[in-house]
Amino acid sequence: MEIADWRRRAMAHASVVAVGADDRPVAASLVALGRNGSTMIAYVITDPAWKGRGLGAAVVAASLEALPGTAVFAGVTDGNTPSERLLASLSFVRTGPVT
Ligand SMILES: CC(C)(COP(=O)(O)OP(=O)(O)OC[C@H]1O[C@@H](n2cnc3c(N)ncnc32)[C@H](O)[C@@H]1OP(=O)(O)O)[C@@H](O)C(=O)NCCC(=O)NCCS
Repeated sequence: MEIADWRRRAMAHASVVAVGADDRPVAASLVALGRNGSTMIAYVITDPAWKGRGLGAAVVAASLEALPGTAVFAGVTDGNTPSERLLASLSFVRTGPVT
């Protein structure tokens, strides 16, 4: 249900998939319009076999490059250190809890 909702609001031009040499997806960044009209990194994921090689940061960076001059938000679940560090490495700043 939640995923279907995000897919309806997906911003395809800024969503990015990284593929390996065999053309299989290894990391992805989904950008979508938030319910309040904001632009959100709705999800970022890296294939477990490919984690820790900079791919998560690379796909989010590519999404940001497709959104020049746009304020971009992202949500992090408490305790998701990899996600928090990924976003911090791209200069995202903490704004507070989602309302
Ligand atoms: C979060 C996730 C996408 C990170 O992907 P990744 O390709 O491994 O990330 P990167 O290699 O680009 O690393 C980006 C930063 O996060 C840090 N990081 C990555 N994995 C980490 C871990 N397990 N613990 C601590 N820091 C970690 C890296 O050190 C790097 O920071 P740095 O530049 O300061 O060194 C990946 O762990 C994942 O798919 N998690 C499951 C899905 C998820 O929780 N998505 C986020 C919710 S939207």
